[in-house]
Amino acid sequence: MDGEAVRACLVFAVQADGTCITTVEGIASPDGTLAPIQEAFRKHHGLQCGFCTPGFIVTATALLRDNPDPTDEEIRDGISGSICRCTGYQGIVAAIRAASATT
Ligand code: FES
Repeated sequence: MDGEAVRACLVFAVQADGTCITTVEGIASPDGTLAPIQEAFRKHHGLQCGFCTPGFIVTATALLRDNPDPTDEEIRDGISGSICRCTGYQGIVAAIRAASATT
């Protein structure tokens, strides 16, 4: 929301009124080409069922914008607001680490 990663479950609709919202669909190019972070999630098995993936992608995008070369600890801290019931987080951290090398 306005360039910051927020937890949608903690934002009232009225708080979003007049703001610019970027969803996971807005991370990819207009022609549908996946962004490097999206490619990295696919390549490094950062998703299974995909339920959590949009949140992780937008969170990782904001994380890498603010810290282009995070340590694994910084990555884990940065994604701590999201929960994944499938992956065990290894693939997610690996994907973000790999994407950081391309930014
Ligand atoms: S991939 Fe299923 S909850 Fe994360």
